[in-house]
Amino acid sequence: MKVINVDLGERSYPIYIDFDLLANSEIICQHIKSKQVLVLTNETIAPLYLERLLVSLSAYQVQTLVLPDGEQYKTIDTVTTIFDSFLENQYGRNATLIALGGGVVGDMGGFAAACFQRGVPFIQVPTTLLAQVDSSVGGKTGVNHPLGKNMIGAFYQPECVVVDTQVLKTLDDRQLSAGLAEVIKYGLIRDPDFFSWLEQNMPALRARDYAALSYAIERCCLAKAQIVAEDEKEAGVRAILNLGHTFGHAIESGSGYGVYLHGEAVAIGCCQAADLSRRLGYLSASDVERIIAIFQRAGLPTKPPKNLSTDDYLAFMGRDKKNIDGHIHLILLAKIGWAELPVTVDIDTLVATLENYGAV
Ligand code: NAD
Ligand code: GLY
Repeated sequence: MKVINVDLGERSYPIYIDFDLLANSEIICQHIKSKQVLVLTNETIAPLYLERLLVSLSAYQVQTLVLPDGEQYKTIDTVTTIFDSFLENQYGRNATLIALGGGVVGDMGGFAAACFQRGVPFIQVPTTLLAQVDSSVGGKTGVNHPLGKNMIGAFYQPECVVVDTQVLKTLDDRQLSAGLAEVIKYGLIRDPDFFSWLEQNMPALRARDYAALSYAIERCCLAKAQIVAEDEKEAGVRAILNLGHTFGHAIESGSGYGVYLHGEAVAIGCCQAADLSRRLGYLSASDVERIIAIFQRAGLPTKPPKNLSTDDYLAFMGRDKKNIDGHIHLILLAKIGWAELPVTVDIDTLVATLENYGAV
């Protein structure tokens, strides 16, 4: 088993990565300090993995809450149903919430845990590649708003993250590719050797070679743990984890949540960020081509929907969390393996990128 520590002083926690970890009750139980446990999952994951987790939790008083599946349910209304469940079961401040699922379940579970009685412990058990390499680590929790993605939320760290790589066998190919978008992001922002490794190993990753997948998960979690330890609340370097996300969030919100998967929107957004970086003199044309090629080889879209206008993009991007005093700030690439901290972009150049990508 690989263990990576997220070093945050008294809020430090381990990320455990191994095959068949759900069946390892010792690992998860050492982080539960109460009798009362609420397991949060969704209707797709429950029939696949809930029972296996419940066997590991047999020593506890466990309630389960099975949510509807989909990004469109990542709302404040759904989070209210989690509060209902805590209250109906008379759970107290020491109850532990376990989020078993992808980024949607994890983000909502973490947010509910942050808010219920001003904070109860929670554990992330991520079941998608995207959640295993990104969303379960670092304590960003929250929900979407119709006017903007992840607009309501809190920084709230889990007690531990339990990554069972075996669960990836039931993930469909589209979701696996969506996870690869965030994996590629790590290569782009700070790790050129990993980017080259991904270019070599993309067929193995897509064929679910578990050695390759485990290596990629470990490398991404290590990178995320380091960045989060340096800048937990995104006052600086953590912002580079948002490469492509400002474009991507506009695509997700503008198309209607769930039409584009988060990873798909990030893939397109990274290509748009690369185009903008080239226009502003940061990135070479050959690097832009390499970036588009790797996303294509990961089975991801690299062009946005045609129904988003420049005004639509600018409206959504104008509400991004990185903006300062109403000015859009974006992460640009200086080269493959190096992202710059957010810079204010010139709107005309941004519009040129949007138009190059079909916006009218
Ligand atoms: P998701 O949670 O919607 O899961 C994708 C699909 O896979 C769902 O239908 C789910 O039911 C299914 N699924 C999950 N595990 C499965 C398994 N093992 N086998 C079969 N099916 C399975 O999507 P996601 O890609 O995991 O997460 C996307 C969300 O994460 C977005 O809302 C995004 O904003 C958020 N996110 C958050 C952070 C963060 O730092 N908190 C980072 C990146 C993304
Ligand atoms: N996924 C962006 C972050 O965690 O900061």
